[in-house]
Amino acid sequence: MVSVMKNDLMERVVSLCKRRGFIFQSSEIYGGLASAWDYGPLGAELKRNVKNAWWKAVVHERDDIVGLDASILMHPNVWKASGHADNFSDPFIKCSACQKYFRFDKVWEEVSKSPWYISLAKVMEGSKDTRDFFKWAKGVGKSLCPNLALVKEPEVTVSWIVESVENRDYLKTNFREFISRLAADQNGINRTPCPQCGNALPDQGVSANLMLRTSLGPVEETAEKVYLRPETAQGIFVNFLNILDTTHRKLPFGVAQIGKAFRNEITPGNYTFRTREFEQMEIEYFINPQDAQRCHEDWITERFNWYIRLGMKKENLRLRPHGADELAHYAKGCTDIEYNFPFGWSELEGIANRTDYDLKQHAQHSGKDLRYQDLVTLEKNFPYIIEPSGGVDRATLAFLVDAYHEEEVNEATRVVLRLSKELAPIKVAVLPLLKKNDGIVELAKRIKKDLQKDFVTVYDDTAAIGKLYRRQDEIGTFFCVTVDVQSLEDKQVTVRDRDTMAQDRVPVENLRKYLTEKFSIGPA
Ligand code: GAP
Repeated sequence: MVSVMKNDLMERVVSLCKRRGFIFQSSEIYGGLASAWDYGPLGAELKRNVKNAWWKAVVHERDDIVGLDASILMHPNVWKASGHADNFSDPFIKCSACQKYFRFDKVWEEVSKSPWYISLAKVMEGSKDTRDFFKWAKGVGKSLCPNLALVKEPEVTVSWIVESVENRDYLKTNFREFISRLAADQNGINRTPCPQCGNALPDQGVSANLMLRTSLGPVEETAEKVYLRPETAQGIFVNFLNILDTTHRKLPFGVAQIGKAFRNEITPGNYTFRTREFEQMEIEYFINPQDAQRCHEDWITERFNWYIRLGMKKENLRLRPHGADELAHYAKGCTDIEYNFPFGWSELEGIANRTDYDLKQHAQHSGKDLRYQDLVTLEKNFPYIIEPSGGVDRATLAFLVDAYHEEEVNEATRVVLRLSKELAPIKVAVLPLLKKNDGIVELAKRIKKDLQKDFVTVYDDTAAIGKLYRRQDEIGTFFCVTVDVQSLEDKQVTVRDRDTMAQDRVPVENLRKYLTEKFSIGPA
């Protein structure tokens, strides 16, 4: 295994995704739309496989969950009841110099990761006296953060720093205060510096609702203003009665849904990780309040294991319970499943105990009785809701990053996408050894036609066999079937395993059976 540095890993995955048609920038021929992405032929297959694996695990393989596909546009009162109309906002601040927006609550996190801070921290590590500050301010600082007070007026700023720095560990122990001092204004008052350019940022955030708005109807003035849903969950809550009435479910039971959601994120980024249009996979699991705590714990375990069952490395996953200050207004508890992305541990999925908040809110706003009636005691109560809520795009990105693998083979680098059998976009590639031999080509095409009934199969004759193998390896194709001259005589083909590169000679007539057995998950 060639070890790929973390910084390089993201770049290599992004480059592979573009080169091989997993992910393209949206509207690329017009210069692209920031943070919007299109899934290409292989990406569409992979994303579909992620969603199918989720649906299979949470709907088809269980007795207690049914599916739903609700509309993106909903009655505006839904968002009043849910709290989104009033509370769904992230205060932001805008840098008056570089015009970039930052989330007010995340700006210090961004400062600590900014190139200028990292560079300055290195200088500080080995620094002996204030001359190092001047040197940095007049050199690297000028190019990385031209608007930082230390860079614009080093003499004044350094004199203030000298007053406050008592010992060499100051940067570590008083990070915010120290960095605020570097950005201090003319009056010597500490300020928060812009992570991008160092300029002093405003002290207060401005609140902005994160929902995207659109209008229904052809005439703008009379059109009804509606929102593109910011989560799929509400479609489930407002259908609670419909589902109860049509399926006669008893508690506990769940409703699962996959669909698009939209949020006017202030700082989208990290490739497909945070975007303004994305897909969610959400379950709302209705349960008696007294069983909610145990059920919450069970779902955390179940969802964590789902990623591992699909091949994700356990050491790249962790659980992070939310602190009380992080909990959404409706939640009693929430635990995130995080993945160790090249840009740091970040949320893949949140599993929340939403209590009876949502049904109560909708009952109050709609005037409908949304309580569940126990068929034995005839008592009516609002059930609690446990909600495992994951992102399709984030899961897909994590599976891609996790599967990316490089190794040296015959003094060349072999890139392999070690996706699981369930997730690999292409299961089998049929490759003719000689593309000018009509017999070989005809047999190869016949085999492809036969296999594609059971497996996602491609035919490729556009390069020499070694190159064709490498191309299939880097997109994660599980098996390559090669048809050669000998095949025409003995009616056998070579089947090559992606991971071991071991080759088996298999009779053409047994090929489907052979592959079905290899894909123990059954035909894809
Ligand atoms: N119904 C609860 C809910 O929506 P959330 O934590 O805001 O909770 C759930 O979102 C999941 O949706 C996240 O764990 C993440 O995987 C995905 N998600 C949220 N915002 C996203 C964004 N801007 N881009 C991509 N995925 C996002």
